[in-house]
Amino acid sequence: MSDAHNEHQSLIRTPKQLVVAVTAFFLVIVLGIILLVTFVTSTATTGAGTDGQSAEAISNRIRPVSEEGFTLVDANAPRVLQAGGAVYAATCAACHDSGMAGAPKTGDNGAWGARLAQGYDTILKHAIEGIRAMPAKGGNPDLDNLEVERAVVFMTNKSGASFKEPAEPAPAPAAAEAPADAAATAAAAASPAATPAPVAATAAAPAAAPAIASADLGKKAYDSACIACHGAGIAGAPKFGDKAAWTARLGQGANVMYEHAIKGFQGKTGFMPPKGGATIPDAEVKAAVDYMVAAVK
Ligand code: HEC
Ligand code: HEC
Repeated sequence: MSDAHNEHQSLIRTPKQLVVAVTAFFLVIVLGIILLVTFVTSTATTGAGTDGQSAEAISNRIRPVSEEGFTLVDANAPRVLQAGGAVYAATCAACHDSGMAGAPKTGDNGAWGARLAQGYDTILKHAIEGIRAMPAKGGNPDLDNLEVERAVVFMTNKSGASFKEPAEPAPAPAAAEAPADAAATAAAAASPAATPAPVAATAAAPAAAPAIASADLGKKAYDSACIACHGAGIAGAPKFGDKAAWTARLGQGANVMYEHAIKGFQGKTGFMPPKGGATIPDAEVKAAVDYMVAAVK
């Protein structure tokens, strides 16, 4: 027995040592508690490694909701319509100042002559509903028809016309927007084609037929939204029917091209605007891509 006992001798052999050991043990515990308490109460109360829950951070996150105008806008207040010049500067100048994408340049009487000859109502209809690369309302559907009309008067009066600024309660011309119909009427309209179209504009034939074959849909969308650039291959756009220009692009696969056509993209040869700048459904853009691809296969 004593052998085994001696092998595992305790460090504490006298009552005095026991008292010291117990006291030391309690000291360590108490010290530990004190340290814990000071740690908890004195360090800044941050979340797990971030300041994300601090009062400042939280108030920063919710600030936009309370301060950025939601509560200040009175939805029922009468809408103040912008003047023609302001609408023009904000929405139309992007294309019409420079004549981008085949847009008739403001101040270029030559470019506007034939268009003005169509008559005020036709021009206005095209501005509101869109025509080819000219997006409906210049791509800003929030504009009131009257605001578009003012912008049209503003820009045409700088380009050889002398129209009167429309009065406040406008006789709103055909506000209903049916994209397919608009495309058909647009294609049928007698305004000069911006580019030599490789395909005849036969879009008027199935007038207003709701179920259009996808090839027809593609051609229609192409004629209305893509031809301005792709017809002649301007601004670096791969030209319709030009196999060499399309081969490398076809290799990317249809989905990449759909995405580029719908979302727009900056490539090596130029900038392809989202949907060619038109406000048409994704399906029509895809159909137009298919249509262009079919022409080079
Ligand atoms: C994304 C470029 C773009 C923007 C933005 C744009 N336009 Fe155009 N616009 C065009 C193009 C391209 C044409 C020529 C279309 C055609 O005849 O093929 C055009 C043509 C027109 C025409 C002549 C239509 C006709 O019957 O000949 C009018 C009017 C017009 N735009 C008004 C406006 C107004 C008003 C705005 C702003 C609210 C605007 N545009 C914004 C590109 C644009
Ligand atoms: C304002 C001119 C313009 C209009 C309008 C336009 N495009 Fe383009 N598009 C371009 C340019 C420029 C490129 C070449 C970009 C590059 O590769 O640098 C391009 C490239 C493309 C490509 C090839 C994308 C790729 O991945 O290589 C597709 C597909 C395409 N356009 C589809 C369309 C469709 C569909 C429409 C009509 C809905 C349209 N585009 C209207 C300018 C235009």
